Amino acid sequence: MAAEFKELPANAPTGEKVANWFENRFPSAFAGYKQHLSEYYAPKNFNFWYFFGSLALLVLVIQIVTGIFLVMNYKPDANLAFASVEYIMRDVPWGWLIRYMHSTGASAFFVVVYLHMYRGLIYGSYRKPRELVWVFGCAIFLALMAEAFMGYLLPWGQMSFWGAQVIVNLFAAVPFIGPDLALLIRGDFVVGDATLNRFFSFHVIAVPLILLGLVVAHILALHDVGSNNPDGIEIKGPNAPKDAQGHPLDGIPFHPYYSVHDLLGVGVFLMAFSAIIFFAPEFGGYFLEYNNFIPADPFKTPLHIAPVWYFTPFYSMLRAITTQMIYVLIAVAIIGALLGVAKAKVGAIGKIAILGATAVVIVLLLSIDAKFWGVVAMGGAVVIMFFLPWLDYSPVKSIRYRPNWHKLVYAVFVINFLILGYLGVQPPSPVGERVSQVGTLLYFGFFLLMPWWSRLGTPKPVPSRVTFKPH
Ligand code: HEM
Repeated sequence: MAAEFKELPANAPTGEKVANWFENRFPSAFAGYKQHLSEYYAPKNFNFWYFFGSLALLVLVIQIVTGIFLVMNYKPDANLAFASVEYIMRDVPWGWLIRYMHSTGASAFFVVVYLHMYRGLIYGSYRKPRELVWVFGCAIFLALMAEAFMGYLLPWGQMSFWGAQVIVNLFAAVPFIGPDLALLIRGDFVVGDATLNRFFSFHVIAVPLILLGLVVAHILALHDVGSNNPDGIEIKGPNAPKDAQGHPLDGIPFHPYYSVHDLLGVGVFLMAFSAIIFFAPEFGGYFLEYNNFIPADPFKTPLHIAPVWYFTPFYSMLRAITTQMIYVLIAVAIIGALLGVAKAKVGAIGKIAILGATAVVIVLLLSIDAKFWGVVAMGGAVVIMFFLPWLDYSPVKSIRYRPNWHKLVYAVFVINFLILGYLGVQPPSPVGERVSQVGTLLYFGFFLLMPWWSRLGTPKPVPSRVTFKPH
């Protein structure tokens, strides 16, 4: 039995009657509009850091729409792919624009998402009750990396080919299953037509579907628990001030306030995005590498193979794990174990377990090739982010109320990440290797030592209401 229809008086305006006709037949669409837009109360003190979520959504749409048009002329065939991209650039009407929007969009996606993640980091948005929002976010980041990696093979240029060759070969370093795993990914003994076809299929269908599903889960989970804000104060908590209807006094409806506010971010973003597309689409070889304008040649390895900039911090960590570095890691494991035995509040069995586990780690470090541990470091650098909500023990969420020196820790983390990124673009060098080794230790130290350092120091008093100056 259908729910009862709401009737409007005969003289009601036509617009209202039309809306009512739809609402009677599709009430959940109207309920969804209220729940997620017109009656979703967001903290009123959002600053520019809060633009990047909606911008990430915008870039996702740009990538899907331009991707649909690219596929109309692209040929996923090792003999035709490179030429089909050239055809899009030269002969397809507006093809150059669609292609540059897509290639610039890939880099823009990472710029926006890195800034979005950084916002979450500094305001403690990953902490209770938003752990799942963060975990979905990290899964989105992983999916995005897979999407970008597979997309990069499609133009079938030298960098497409050799980049894929280097990365897929890394999987061969996994003990026991490695060679078969690499074969499974490539579909051949070398990167070839079969690889191109499966990467194409994943890039245009499988991963975008996963991304879209994850983004929906990310936003639904956020709307269930409510947004954080630069003060890290819960505006919907049991003790938060509310009006007679139960709406938070520190909140404003997302629509129209933030929908209009976000348009400012969209405007600024589109200006920068268009400037790059029209004036510097290759962006000095960082967005489109020069070597990728040469068709893939399996018999000619480029002198210097580097991934696109957004992967380079992780690539640096991969290269940092050399045989020498394994000894440093063993030393770190021993220091960690000794500290654990001295400080951890566990009984004798616990202490023996710590020492036993360390011994196993040392044996594994020594018996498996350093290349494999490089892969572990690269993967671990992303995986460790998933655990952030359970590593931070600071009594306050937002950086605003943390001890001042915490800001220094975050600054070191960011600068270190940028240096790792820079080194990943450079050809290997002895100095670069040492710096990236220190950088890798700093990167993991930031996360692994967080349960210790996040507790230290005296936080500043957190106000009971958000800080907001009307302008
Ligand atoms: C396609 C990629 C992504 C899209 C479209 C997306 C979208 C959004 C949107 C629309 C919001 C609400 C607006 C805002 O707070 O800015 C949001 C919030 C959030 N996102 Fe994402 N996101 C993406 C990736 C990520 C990633 C990679 C992470 C972290 C690893 C992340 C973590 C968060 C967190 C913690 C919040 C809550 C922020 C707060 O309330 O302070 N997101 N996201």
